[in-house]
Amino acid sequence: MITVPGEGGDENVKVAVLVSGRGSNFEALCREETGRGVVSLLITDNPNAPALEKAGKLGVEGMYLFPGEYRTRFDPVHEERWAAAMKERGIGLVCLAGLMRILKGPILREFSGSVMNIHPSLLPSFPGLDAQGQALEYGVKVTGCTVHYVDEGVDTGPVILQRTVPVFDDDDRESLSARILEQEHVAYPMAVKLHCAGRLSVKGRKVVTSPAERSAGGILLASNEEEL
Ligand code: GAR
Repeated sequence: MITVPGEGGDENVKVAVLVSGRGSNFEALCREETGRGVVSLLITDNPNAPALEKAGKLGVEGMYLFPGEYRTRFDPVHEERWAAAMKERGIGLVCLAGLMRILKGPILREFSGSVMNIHPSLLPSFPGLDAQGQALEYGVKVTGCTVHYVDEGVDTGPVILQRTVPVFDDDDRESLSARILEQEHVAYPMAVKLHCAGRLSVKGRKVVTSPAERSAGGILLASNEEEL
């Protein structure tokens, strides 16, 4: 079960972003409004990740850490080192953003309820690799992106936010991915802001906002509304 840590007072929450490549979501999390969430660390499993250069330019500490010899998951010994690096720096929220690797324990244990991921489909449709290609192949007319808390499964954790985009007849992977990515860059900062304000809790599979927030007009967690 995922339990989100409670309201953290007025203090900022240090955010670590874990990536494998480009890092456009990392950049969005650095540049956009995230309330108390402050990106202070980037870690990558790819020494050539363009995201490392982005971190340098944005003045955020960036590091490559060896993930182990496996291709799609961590060696637990190395995953412990990733968790330790984040713990040493007082990280309060871990954001996976294009990390092409499954977490198998140490990070989820250390940061229980405080690990999020962004996925380029409306989960539970099209989990795993090439979500945009899967959507095109299936022929859906609407797809989008999902920010969710991470559990032990592949893209199975409780959904925080989803934003939709249309799929056009002449779309290819590139055009559809670009349309989804624009929405990712809106959704992820919103989700981080909500989490770091202590406004989210998990009830079973559902991520809900506190009663106070609902009576104050509510937060639309499942639409393209940008109202926070
Ligand atoms: C994003 O589209 C993200 O949703 C996807 O990788 C891309 C990373 O882009 N993640 C997954 O597919 C995870 N299953 P970015 O490096 O520019 O943020």
